[in-house]
Amino acid sequence: MKIDIDAMYQVAEQARQHSHSPYSHFSVGSCVLTETGKMFGGCNVENASYPLGQCAEASAIGNMVTQLGPQKIRAILIVVDTHTVIGSCGGCLQKILEFATPETEIIMCNTTSKRERRFFKEFL
Ligand code: THU
Repeated sequence: MKIDIDAMYQVAEQARQHSHSPYSHFSVGSCVLTETGKMFGGCNVENASYPLGQCAEASAIGNMVTQLGPQKIRAILIVVDTHTVIGSCGGCLQKILEFATPETEIIMCNTTSKRERRFFKEFL
């Protein structure tokens, strides 16, 4: 299945705009694409007790499972509004692994058109 990066970006960027990140001031958006072609967005949701905060990827995965049930992830896109793009933290890599396949891709973006596309298995 061909990945529509622009469509995924729109979902992730819309989610990023809802980010609750008053502590880090670092807003992150994510979009999960299932192998069946459905997209789910998520943003980071921070907490005054900092370790309880949730990453954007975890929110997107939670939305996927809540709305459709467990699915294989075809790709996950992450968008930030900094110059450098970011990869997922260790905890999120583990959360993605739960639904990943050998073909799962990670697409790292910023809001000024930087895009980096890699295989998930390169990270974990
Ligand atoms: N964050 C994400 O949402 N995804 C990542 O892949 C890395 C970090 C969030 C967690 C926290 O709210 C903020 O970015 C700063 O670390």
